[in-house]
Amino acid sequence: MVTATIRIQRFNPDVDKKPHIGEFHLEPDQDTTILDALQMSKSQQDGSVTFRRSCRHAICGSCAMNVNGSNMLVCNKPLAAVLDKNRRVTIRPLPYLPIIKDLVVDRSSFWEQYQRVKPWLIPPGDLPEKEFRVSPEEVEALNNAETCIMCGACYSACQVIGMTKQYIGPHALLKAFLRVVDPRDTEPGERLANLSGSDGVYRCHTIFNCIDACPKDLNPTQAIETLRKLAQKRRALDDARNERQKYIEEPVSTG
Ligand code: F3S
Ligand code: FES
Repeated sequence: MVTATIRIQRFNPDVDKKPHIGEFHLEPDQDTTILDALQMSKSQQDGSVTFRRSCRHAICGSCAMNVNGSNMLVCNKPLAAVLDKNRRVTIRPLPYLPIIKDLVVDRSSFWEQYQRVKPWLIPPGDLPEKEFRVSPEEVEALNNAETCIMCGACYSACQVIGMTKQYIGPHALLKAFLRVVDPRDTEPGERLANLSGSDGVYRCHTIFNCIDACPKDLNPTQAIETLRKLAQKRRALDDARNERQKYIEEPVSTG
């Protein structure tokens, strides 16, 4: 077996002033994933190596990390695919988020922004007797966005998040998009108004890092662009309504 070097960013807030890299030498086989390599480092060499993981099947989203500079899930990625020519790989925590320990970050801002878009369905008062009917075209319009697993890879790849945690962020805007285009939801107008503030859809600089980082091949940028267009239309509608009201209150003479 050929040795691989796993370089893991270490940080223990109780003893370290700043993060440093720890090296682990392993003998992986061809089926070893990056998560397996982390687990081997922990169980065979240093039990204090700290990271999050749960499902091991790219479903729970807890194992998102930065590998050789790119955010990804580590549980479904073969180690061999990320080793360089010297058989080394560098694993760091998700960028732009406070480090709790080693590869574990504080995701509070991520969840706060998620809450902010009210990601739940707001249904009509008179619910259908049996079920909501949603057409295949309406499902198609959701653009697979419902398969997002909230791993945080897109959020922490976005440089705008690096500059301000006030930005709602690609993950929450993708969820907001789902609700806005969902035919069962009753508040698309209010949602679009909320997303049109200075921290919303206009804060996106179309950097595209979110698309590259998404392990589910989703397209948050396109969702944000759609929300922008819908928000502009809604604004135009509001303007038209206001103008109409003004005209009703003070009719302009056409005679
Ligand atoms: Fe950020 Fe994606 Fe927009 S990376 S700036 S949310 S296109
Ligand atoms: Fe659940 Fe990787 S451990 S997504």
